[in-house]
Parts: sequence; structure tokens; C-alpha cells
Amino acid sequence: CLSHTHTALRQILDAFLIQTTRQAAMETNSLVTVHFINRNGERLTATAKEGESMLDVVVNQNLNIDGFGACEGTLACSTCHLIFEEDAFKQVDTVTDEEMDMLDLAYGLTDTSRLGCQVCIKKWMYGITVQVPMEVSDIRRQLEVGKQSKQ
Ligand code: FES
Repeated sequence: CLSHTHTALRQILDAFLIQTTRQAAMETNSLVTVHFINRNGERLTATAKEGESMLDVVVNQNLNIDGFGACEGTLACSTCHLIFEEDAFKQVDTVTDEEMDMLDLAYGLTDTSRLGCQVCIKKWMYGITVQVPMEVSDIRRQLEVGKQSKQ
């Protein structure tokens, strides 16, 4: 009888260990390594979580990208402008009209530009490299300039 209890306990313990190992593997799998090329050419590597935006990654990982994400993801600037590699760009979720309007105001716009606050991390992004454009534009600054030139 004691050996039955022992076997039952062993089975429970095994099941628990398998479950814990699976969970740990799933958590590790949901981490995605992405690279940013900063304005000065420096390569920054970050470990992102699936579902985070590119802006979240920059903020959460304290990446030193000057002026990035000035409006905190509210689509009111274009400082989170990122340039994707062509293959990656094709796979990123489609751009909304609101993002497009804001993107149009970004300096150094390319065919593979997106706003980092609107692009969410997915598993397939593992290892991608995005470029932070050399030029930075903040719509709020442009509005200031616009106001001044009208005076
Ligand atoms: S952070 Fe301002 S538009 Fe993305």
C-alpha cells in the first residue's frame, strides 16, 4: 500500500514538473530579440515580449534613442519613426489611416517606414533589425514653426 502511495505521489510530482517546464518554455518562447540601429549607427539589442509595441520595447528596455516616442504612443508625433527591412515590412500588420497621416509628417520617410508605437512584436520578428532614421521630426515642433511663419 505504501508503494502505491509512493507511485501516486511520484506521478503527481512528474505531472507538476512537466507542467512547470512547459510553462517556462512558453514564457521563454514569447521573448523576441530585436535590434535597433540608432542614429549614430550604434546597434542596440533588446529582448521584447510578444504583444508589446516597438515603443514599449524602447521604453521598457531603456534604449537610449534620443527623443523617441514623444507623445507616448498617442499618434500625435512621429518621433517613433522606424525603418524596417523590406521582408519584415511586408509582414507587419497593415498601416491605419491615422498612422499614415502621422507618418507623412516624418522626416526621412521611406517605403518601409512605420511608427514604432503602432507596430506590435510578434514571434516572427525574432532577430529583425530596424533603423532609427537620422533625421527626427516632431509634429509639435513643426506646428510651432508653422505658427511662427504665419506671424
Ligand atoms: S510615439 Fe508619437 S506617434 Fe508614435
